[in-house]
Amino acid sequence: MNAHVDARGWPQPNSRPSPFALDALEGLTQTPKRLSPKYFYDATGSDLFEQITRLPEYYPTRTELGILRERGREITAFIPKGAALVEFGAGATTKMRLLLEHSAFAAYVPVDISGEFLHSQAARLRADYPTLAVYPVAADFTRAFALPAEVASMPKVGFFPGSTLGNFEPDDAAQFLRKAAAILGQGARLILGVDLEKDERILHDAYNDAAGVTAKFNLNLLARMNRELGTDFDASAFDHRAIYNRTEHRIEMHLRSRKAQKISLCGRTIMFASGESIHTENSYKYSIPRLHKLARSAGWTLSQSWTDAQAMFSVHALVADRPPPLAAD
Ligand code: AVJ
Repeated sequence: MNAHVDARGWPQPNSRPSPFALDALEGLTQTPKRLSPKYFYDATGSDLFEQITRLPEYYPTRTELGILRERGREITAFIPKGAALVEFGAGATTKMRLLLEHSAFAAYVPVDISGEFLHSQAARLRADYPTLAVYPVAADFTRAFALPAEVASMPKVGFFPGSTLGNFEPDDAAQFLRKAAAILGQGARLILGVDLEKDERILHDAYNDAAGVTAKFNLNLLARMNRELGTDFDASAFDHRAIYNRTEHRIEMHLRSRKAQKISLCGRTIMFASGESIHTENSYKYSIPRLHKLARSAGWTLSQSWTDAQAMFSVHALVADRPPPLAAD
């Protein structure tokens, strides 16, 4: 139960709505209705995502792991000795552990919105790698955050695997990359994992798995709002829909209500017409040239790219351009 609502979902008079409640209110009062995919990942959602990564149809995770495993030596050659690896949105530590096999970075800074998971993972890492300094940061990495003072003097390498960049609109992706360069500072580097454009059937199946796990993952958003925001969605009347939007180069996920329904959120009423949907996720797919352009526009130079043999997924090494010299006075 959420502190902002009582057992019947009424907002409590002297509590402030959470960022989740505010975002939900903003998204659900727009036309078309939308919600940010960052809210998929409560405990249930994170568990469902782990299940997705093991589905036969969902190729991205295993393909990226394959690239990190097979090209690990070349990729980590890019990490300076004594560097701090800053991972944006650290879920499982599987990927950073693969880098650690070949590289002696000195510190690991996982930045994640879910503090609890972060600290349990940090404890395990410290036990497994006693010489690695681990400084978890509980923050929403899509907003500004400060790096721990302990890594101030170390060279910084960002790590953003999993094609999470694909969740951003292209303009926001560029802005994120610009901000990442600012956070990482002078001489920053970045190791970036990005899903590639491919046969539409493969893309479609990856987000419409036969076992229905992706549907559950999408629908959990409604259950989460009912639990945490006191909404009263009839989740059983919603369908999962995932389609490939060819002109925008993205998979879109939607939740579509089969019936008209009225939901109350923070004392407001939100109406759904029969057949109306909530747009819950975009998952952009890049070509190497389009990624190249995006990086350039955001102040990064693509230094090297790796893909699997079928060119399903890509991993890139980027170097931040030198900031422009200060204007002479
Ligand atoms: C974690 C954003 C990369 O877009 O493939 C998986 C999330 N959504 N199945 C993706 C997701 C539906 C995933 N990312």
